[in-house]
Amino acid sequence: MAPDALSGLSSTTCAGSDDPCVNCLTVDMAALTESVRLETITSNGADVALIIIDNPPVNALSWHVRQGLFDGMTQAIAGGAEAVVVICEGRTFIAGADISEFGGGAPAAAGLHDVQRAMEDAPVPVIAAIHGTALGGGLEVALCAHYRVALASAKFGLPEVNLGLLPGAGGTQRLPRLTGVPKALEMMTTGRHISTGEALECGLVDEVVDGDLGALRATAISFAERAVTENMALARVRDRNEKVEVAKGDIELFANFRKSIARKTRGFLAPEYNVRCIEAAANLPFEEGLAVERKLFMELMAGPQSAAQRYYFFAERAANKVPGIDQTTPLVDIEKCGVLGAGTMGGGIAMNFANVGIPVRIVERDQEALDKGLAVIRKNYERSRSTTPEQVEQRLALITGATDKAAFADCDIVIEAVFEDMELKKSIFRELDIICKQGAIMASNTSALDVNEIASVTSRPESVIGMHFFSPANVMKLLENVRGDKSSDSTVATAMAIGKRIGKICVMVGVCPGFVGNRILFQRRIEADRMILEGATPAQVDRVLFDFGFPMGPFAMSDLAGLDIGWKAENSSGETLRDLMCESGRRGQKNGRGYYTYDPETRAATPDSEVEEIIKNFAISKGIAQRDISDQEVLERCLYPMVNEGAKILEEGIAIRGSDIDVTWVNGYGWPVYRGGPMHWADSVGLAEIVEKVKGYSESLGGRHWEPSALLARLAEEGGKLQTYTS
Ligand code: 3HC
Ligand code: NAI
Repeated sequence: MAPDALSGLSSTTCAGSDDPCVNCLTVDMAALTESVRLETITSNGADVALIIIDNPPVNALSWHVRQGLFDGMTQAIAGGAEAVVVICEGRTFIAGADISEFGGGAPAAAGLHDVQRAMEDAPVPVIAAIHGTALGGGLEVALCAHYRVALASAKFGLPEVNLGLLPGAGGTQRLPRLTGVPKALEMMTTGRHISTGEALECGLVDEVVDGDLGALRATAISFAERAVTENMALARVRDRNEKVEVAKGDIELFANFRKSIARKTRGFLAPEYNVRCIEAAANLPFEEGLAVERKLFMELMAGPQSAAQRYYFFAERAANKVPGIDQTTPLVDIEKCGVLGAGTMGGGIAMNFANVGIPVRIVERDQEALDKGLAVIRKNYERSRSTTPEQVEQRLALITGATDKAAFADCDIVIEAVFEDMELKKSIFRELDIICKQGAIMASNTSALDVNEIASVTSRPESVIGMHFFSPANVMKLLENVRGDKSSDSTVATAMAIGKRIGKICVMVGVCPGFVGNRILFQRRIEADRMILEGATPAQVDRVLFDFGFPMGPFAMSDLAGLDIGWKAENSSGETLRDLMCESGRRGQKNGRGYYTYDPETRAATPDSEVEEIIKNFAISKGIAQRDISDQEVLERCLYPMVNEGAKILEEGIAIRGSDIDVTWVNGYGWPVYRGGPMHWADSVGLAEIVEKVKGYSESLGGRHWEPSALLARLAEEGGKLQTYTS
């Protein structure tokens, strides 16, 4: 459909027909604001006004959209329209409030509540015509129409919770009135988008249309015409109490729901506030419920969690952009993927491609390793609750195994995921250089090695790049794409594009040991290891980080990964704490004994006095005095070196922008999104304070990781911010 598909200057099409309809004549068309226009048409004798929104990219409710909607309603009624249709141009219905306006600064205009009142209280039927996504404030606008007509492909949701908010335009009171309380609870605490089919089932939608935007327009017009000729009721959602009344006084319903989301929403304020609003919808009259919604919305909006989550929304979208790369950069067409190594990472990487329908060739060094790898892939698919048995077979059929790298000859991209060994990787890239077709991308999943050194053994370093997936690779959203000095723009652009296509959140980084994520992680680890020798316990360090919002601390993480990764009994000399732990049979969760002991049934972790004894004796042997360490010191010594290292990474140009570091840590390492990421968090603590502490620890403790970053010191002095810094 053409971009101006809705303008319908002289005639329009009706549902089921591509031909212009002589019964639908456009009488008038006027621009109301820069993004909204009003069209009046006569359809089979009924005067229908169309308020058409065109505010790319997602028709967000910017000030001029709200003003246009308000003026449109006023003028339509004043002009004698017998029905009003609200519809959008472009790829979607209104996808929500304009988040970029939340910080203030937009010109004064009609408020969203004014727009909603104008629609809901209109003396004529108002029909929302929905395609794409009706999200947040967009769905709340649609809920103030008397009827909703939607394309079968549309999606509906109140995702405010993901911005640390709740729907602040009556959505908390209106949605449960249509869907019932349980569904509203689920939708609003997860932000999940539901399909038109599901929306129809739960009463959110009145009529479904197959086809395109033109078909939607035509159906909405004929619905409006019917509403006029059949004198249909002005169905106001606010008046429909039957579905909320059944939950009135049902304390258990809400208590059980709270229990069911407690683990997933730990630390977040917004899910609980959303629940409270729905509780108000069940127990209070509409207007009083609205007042509860308004109060809680304002509280969230003014708080640090929503500020962090709104910042993060834009950070994630910015991360996808690489300076110098744009839509004109040629992409390698990826129709077939090769993966070398069917171990922990290779198997997961292969699944990502198969999940989006891209055939994968997976190569192992021998049949036994291949069979083992393919069996693990099958098991992972079969365990997944989101794939049907048919989908499992379809996806497995896309993954074919081989033991000869010649199978990569027709692949458009090959991702190497063999052991972390530079010599091995170099020998493999020499072979890939011979086997892969010209133009194919040759990527390494190395987690810390020098991508330039790997690229140097090939005749085409421009086609080599790092693609650092995280474990489990089929689950974790983060993909650190590592640009080598010679990676071409096309290679970079393709790595970002294919990452997005397989559902990853991509961050482009430069070459250095550990890249962005692991390099920062190493600094935290140094201090965590130091502190347990000085008197903190592993459980204390883990608890402080867990309370901060991480899913687990470094010692629980080590137990999960296995303490014996890279450890060999024959080389163990009791020189390190890890040696001592492994020598005493502590391998982590896998054998029930690591920094903690694990209940064989429940896998619950309990601190172990034997571990504390091992640590204490080791500290004594090294002449380290033990003392009480406060939780505040634990937090500072874990997090400040991360901030300092992040600043060094920016200084060196390894990360493009401060916010990219935050995207890396939120998605790859469980940094709580309601704290924005290490750079956003550091800004909120205050850079001057952090610099002072870093200097203090540098003097008292020493170590390269405590040497203050010059950039950090400069920004602190100038009142600058890490989160907005661009290198
Ligand atoms: N406000 C401002 N900008 C927005 C926006 C919004 N609500 N939603 C998307 N954008 C911008 C993005 O920043 C991006 O800009 P860029 O191209 O400059 O980077 C552009 O629109 C396209 O966005 P995506 O890259 O995310 O496009 P997709 O096609 O992948 O996804 C979408 C489209 C599903 C609509 C997704 O953008 C989205 O989920 N948007 C947010 C929806 C949302 O949270 N709505 C609720 C807002 S809060 C609210 O309504 C409060 C109310 O209750 C009072
Ligand atoms: P793994 O040991 O589970 O798997 C490696 C696989 O490569 C094995 O199945 C092995 O048989 C195969 N292999 C070795 N040499 C081969 C050769 N010459 N030809 C074909 N296959 C060969 O290792 P894992 O954990 O999957 O790591 C792979 C790479 O991914 C490493 O570079 C690692 O640093 C990186 N990585 C690992 C992460 C993790 O958490 N495990 C996270 C991110 C990256």
